[in-house]
Amino acid sequence: MFAKFATRQFSSTASSAYKVSILGAAGGIGQPLSLLMKLNHKVTKLSLYDLRLGAGVATDISHIPTNSVVKGYGPEDNGLSKALEGADVVLIPAGVPRKPGMTRDDLFNTNASIVRDLAKACADHCPNAAICVISNPVNSTVPIVAEVLKSKNVYNPKKLFGVTTLDVLRASRFLSEVAGTNPVHEHVTVVGGHSGITIVPLISQTNHKNLPKETYDALVHRIQFGGDEVVQAKGGAGSATLSMAQAGARFASAVLDGLAGEKDVVEPAFVDSPLFKNEGVEFFSSKVTLGVDGIKHIHGLGELTNAEQEMINTAKETLVKNIEKGVNFVKQNP
Ligand code: NAI
Repeated sequence: MFAKFATRQFSSTASSAYKVSILGAAGGIGQPLSLLMKLNHKVTKLSLYDLRLGAGVATDISHIPTNSVVKGYGPEDNGLSKALEGADVVLIPAGVPRKPGMTRDDLFNTNASIVRDLAKACADHCPNAAICVISNPVNSTVPIVAEVLKSKNVYNPKKLFGVTTLDVLRASRFLSEVAGTNPVHEHVTVVGGHSGITIVPLISQTNHKNLPKETYDALVHRIQFGGDEVVQAKGGAGSATLSMAQAGARFASAVLDGLAGEKDVVEPAFVDSPLFKNEGVEFFSSKVTLGVDGIKHIHGLGELTNAEQEMINTAKETLVKNIEKGVNFVKQNP
């Protein structure tokens, strides 16, 4: 029994070895995300950085017998640079979460400078890493990271991602609830951005194109504002953490699969995108094929209904403002 288990583990880790660093690793998202990355056999080095408790979380997780060495760091003794040195993938869930009544944009003032400073450290210590931004507001924090990397001449648009996977998970789950199906088999492409009306699920591209209008409208609204359900249910103690950790781990795993040269690795993500650049929308979420150099291909949106087209037009108006806010923040507070 034991021998069989050991053989299986050994063969699945033989082909690839990556260092993943998590910044904000002791937080509500950071802890379960760190656990899930410890279970990923492509990860051989796992660095956990936080302002507090990084070493504690790392020691705890390090007792799990998978093939990675876990190290925890805090701000003392150049902890951040040590955590990032040699990283292939950096996951950033550092920052404050929402409380009831707050929008993601309300987090901007606090999180913008946290993300800016972490991006500077990435530029200095792991300029070739794939950076996956979870900290909200994603529509603005991703442009912040891009501006910082540009200012340090290390910007690689193929390796910067805003993680929108939670919207994809929610869309599968909520669609399956109205359709009476198994969510595992529901794959919904979600495009646009990661906040309220910028989240656009393409239900017409699923097997459920003919939902009654009322059901469809309620479903779209629930996907766009599903995060509020969690914020309210937690009553001021935070926003989605466990489902977000699962989403972040799924996205990070896809990035690692791409780096390892696996075929047909596709996930939606908020990226520097050519789709609507001519309209001033520098970043947009759509399906992305991941490869050995990061983004291999950014997919178009496919065929849309009038209702979806209208939602995308509305999303673009908000995205332009959110993106500009991030860019201006770095210009004014370099
Ligand atoms: P949390 O408050 O539980 O954890 C945040 C952690 O970041 C804390 O441990 C804190 O010490 C750490 N931190 C703060 N500043 C830091 C710095 N400069 N360097 C390193 N660590 C730092 O918050 P939670 O719930 O984990 O949420 C984190 C972020 O993720 C929030 O901005 C939240 O809005 C966002 N989020 C994003 C989602 C998405 O779909 N992209 C979904 C849910 C939340």
